[in-house]
Amino acid sequence: MSDKLDEARELARTGLERINRTTSVEALDALDSELLGKRSRLTEMRAGLRDADPRERKELGRALNEARHTLDEAVSARREELAAEALRTELLAEGRDLTEALGRARVGHQHPITLTWERLEDVFVGMGFTVEDGPEVETDWFNFEALNLPAAHPARSLWDTLYVDAGEESTERGEVLLRTHTSPVQVRTMLRAAAVGTGPPIYVVCPGRVYRRDTADATHLPVFHQIEGLVVDRGTSMGDLAGTIEEFTKAYFGESLTSRLRPSYFPFTEPSAEVDISQPDGSWLEVGGCGMVHPNVLVHCGLDPEEWSGFAFGFGIDRLAKIRHGISDLRELVANDMRFLEQF
Ligand code: DAH
Repeated sequence: MSDKLDEARELARTGLERINRTTSVEALDALDSELLGKRSRLTEMRAGLRDADPRERKELGRALNEARHTLDEAVSARREELAAEALRTELLAEGRDLTEALGRARVGHQHPITLTWERLEDVFVGMGFTVEDGPEVETDWFNFEALNLPAAHPARSLWDTLYVDAGEESTERGEVLLRTHTSPVQVRTMLRAAAVGTGPPIYVVCPGRVYRRDTADATHLPVFHQIEGLVVDRGTSMGDLAGTIEEFTKAYFGESLTSRLRPSYFPFTEPSAEVDISQPDGSWLEVGGCGMVHPNVLVHCGLDPEEWSGFAFGFGIDRLAKIRHGISDLRELVANDMRFLEQF
C-alpha cells in the first residue's frame, strides 16, 4: 500500500517538473492528457481504489486527489505563461508598441522628421539665416496669386490643391486652402519687412508642413514637409544662390556630396532651377527647386525690384531625410513601425 502512496506523490512531483519544462501549448496539451487523461496512470490508480484495502483506501484516495489537483493547477498556470510568451513573440514580429507586453515604460526620442527639421534649422542658422513660420491653412492669394500664379495660370496644375470650405468666412484674399508649399511664407516675410519699414536685407528659412491632393507611394506623401529659403538684398546673383546651396549641401551631408542646378520653371522665380544632390553611387537625387525671385513677386510684396533682388529655394525635408538615412520608402516615415523608428 505505501508503495501506491509513494507512487501517487512521485507522479505529482515528476509531473510538475515536466509541466514547467514545456515550451509550447501543443506539448502542454499532450502532457495534460498523458498525466490526467482517461488512460493516465492517475486515472488507472483511481479506478483501482475499489480493490484497495478499506483501511488504506481513504489515505490513498486523498493522495490521488491531491496529485490531480496539483497537476491541474500547474497545467493552467503554464498555459497562461505560454500564451503570454506567444503574444510577446507575435507582437515583436509585428513591430507593435510593446510597452504593455514588456511591462515597462520605453524611453522615446524624436521622430526622424523632427530630427531632420531641427538639423536643417541648425545648419541654416549657422549660415546666418533666421527661422520664420506661417500658417498651414492659407489663402489663394498667399499660396498662388502673390507668387505670380494668377487664377487661370496653367502652372497651378503643378500643385494638386486641397481646398477648405470656409463658408461665409471666405476672405478677400481668395479661397481658403491647405498650403501646397512653404513659399507663401516668403510672401508673408517680405510683406512684414516692408510694412514695419525695416525692409530687406532678408535671410530666412521657413520649415513647415505642406499638403497635396496626392496618393502616398514610395516617393510621395500627401502630407509632407518643406524648408523654404529666401534672401532679399542688394545685388544678389545666381552665383550667390548656387554657392549657398553648395555650402548647405556640404554642411548637411558632409564634404563628399555635392549639388547641381538644372534649368527648370517656377512662376515665382526667373531664372529657375531644380536642385539635385549627388549620391555616393554617382547618381543624382532631386530635392527641390530654386531661382531668382521674380520681380512681380517683389512688387506684390511691396518691394521695389529696381532696388532689391533675391533668391529663393524650397527643399523637401522628407526627401533630405530619405537621402541622409538611406530610407527606401517615404511611407516608413508615417507607418509608426517601432523597428523603423528605433533606428534613429
Ligand atoms: N514651392 C516649390 C514647390 O513646392 C519649390 C520651390 C521652387 C521653392 C523654387 C522656391 C523656389 O522657393 O524658388 O514645388
